[in-house]
Amino acid sequence: MTTETIRTSEAASESGEVRAPRKVFVKTYGCQMNVYDSQRMADVLAADGYSAADNAEDADLVLLNTCHIREKAAEKVYSELGRLRRMKEERAARGADLVIGVTGCVAQAEGEEIIRRQPAVDLVIGPQSYHRIANVVRGARGGTRQVETDFPAEDKFEHLPKPDARATRARGVTAFLTVQEGCDKFCTFCVVPYTRGAEVSRPVGQIVAEAERLAESGVREVTLLGQNVNAWHGEGPDGTAWGLGRLLFRLAEIPGIDRLRYTTSHPRDMDDTLIAAHRDLGALMPYLHLPVQAGSDAVLKAMNRKHTGDDYRRLVERIRAARPDIALSGDFIVGFPGETDADFEETLRIIRDVTYAQAFSFKYSPRPGTPGADRDDQVETAVKDERLQRLQALLNEQQEIFARSLVGREMDVLIEKRGRKAGQRVGRSPWLQPVICDENDGEIGDIVRVRINEAGPNSLFGTKV
Ligand code: SAH
Ligand code: SF4
Ligand code: F3S
Repeated sequence: MTTETIRTSEAASESGEVRAPRKVFVKTYGCQMNVYDSQRMADVLAADGYSAADNAEDADLVLLNTCHIREKAAEKVYSELGRLRRMKEERAARGADLVIGVTGCVAQAEGEEIIRRQPAVDLVIGPQSYHRIANVVRGARGGTRQVETDFPAEDKFEHLPKPDARATRARGVTAFLTVQEGCDKFCTFCVVPYTRGAEVSRPVGQIVAEAERLAESGVREVTLLGQNVNAWHGEGPDGTAWGLGRLLFRLAEIPGIDRLRYTTSHPRDMDDTLIAAHRDLGALMPYLHLPVQAGSDAVLKAMNRKHTGDDYRRLVERIRAARPDIALSGDFIVGFPGETDADFEETLRIIRDVTYAQAFSFKYSPRPGTPGADRDDQVETAVKDERLQRLQALLNEQQEIFARSLVGREMDVLIEKRGRKAGQRVGRSPWLQPVICDENDGEIGDIVRVRINEAGPNSLFGTKV
């Protein structure tokens, strides 16, 4: 594997004197996988003597773990880099240093270009090289700018340190666990196959061991992550082929792991065993993020989603038959190239047919290198704005109806943390909503039976039964 290096004029400032312990601040953008990755990078650096800082001001290494999914997300990084450059200059004036790194999907997509646009950046490292980050940082501190965006042949996860028990405890009673990374689906709007590479599944043994360690450090709810998490596949201990459903059953056997979730799923990878897990596995929470993106068959085809609106409706019916109280969430894109008013109406129609408890919706953003960006029938911004507004009005209405439907009902709530107000605890409902309760209702890590008294715009309020 190669490490591309660019010599800089700045001299190394390692003088060998005893210095204060180094501190790293990682700022995370984008999806949950970036949240997970930021923690893994912090673990690698902790093994190299770095403790965690709460903000950039207190750190001598700042990493921006970036997202490339939409133009806005990627551009945010450059404004933050401008701010860090000024901080670096101020420090240099008083003889202190600041190492600036860019990681994540912008790092992968733009590589060296980032340093060209912002010369204050010392290192750029893509998601497949995080196990090497301590070396890369040392190289940068030695005065050589580092750009590492290869897809190395070695297994990153094998080389990442195990999640640190103390750090995990401090991180709380819920945790993410990446089981699958990358994507082979190539939806025509999406950069993920380019930034995260080909679909890779982690082996069963590695995943079980990581989940066991999480359980030992007090985690009670694990969310399995993957860009297409339900495409995960592996070989079980008995030599048979396992899909995500089998894996979930295995993880539920771990003492202490009481709740399981997974995200994000692709409709084409919801197989029978996984649907059966929703019926038979109590630990699997009745909540599923299952993006459909659009409702019109023509748009779905142009997006290369490889299913129709009715395929999706039938799938949702099967899932609901298995687990009647399941709530769905989704992602939607408005204004994909060529989307007509009639196509957009089909998106509204599928939302009305399916009904969502939660949803994320976006204006189509043409991304360099994706087929959608090259099309000459882009939709005007004003049209996208108007469609997004209508879509969000409908989704908000559904979200409210769902939250209100829970008032008066009893449910198990995992107490997660102290509330913002004294005397409050914040828990999590099976449907992922924050539930505000009284501190006497339970300790952090307890799962308590709660009756919901009220539904606010972003959270529920309840009392222990
Ligand atoms: N693997 C997941 C999605 C990952 S990206 C899936 O297949 O569903 C998260 C969401 O960002 C997508 O579901 C999509 O709604 C949105 N998105 C991706 N590329 C986009 C683009 N170019 N413009 C606008 N939204 C986009
Ligand atoms: Fe992107 Fe499509 Fe892969 Fe999801 S399935 S990550 S939207 S290419
Ligand atoms: Fe963004 Fe990369 Fe996640 S592009 S959404 S951080 S996989």
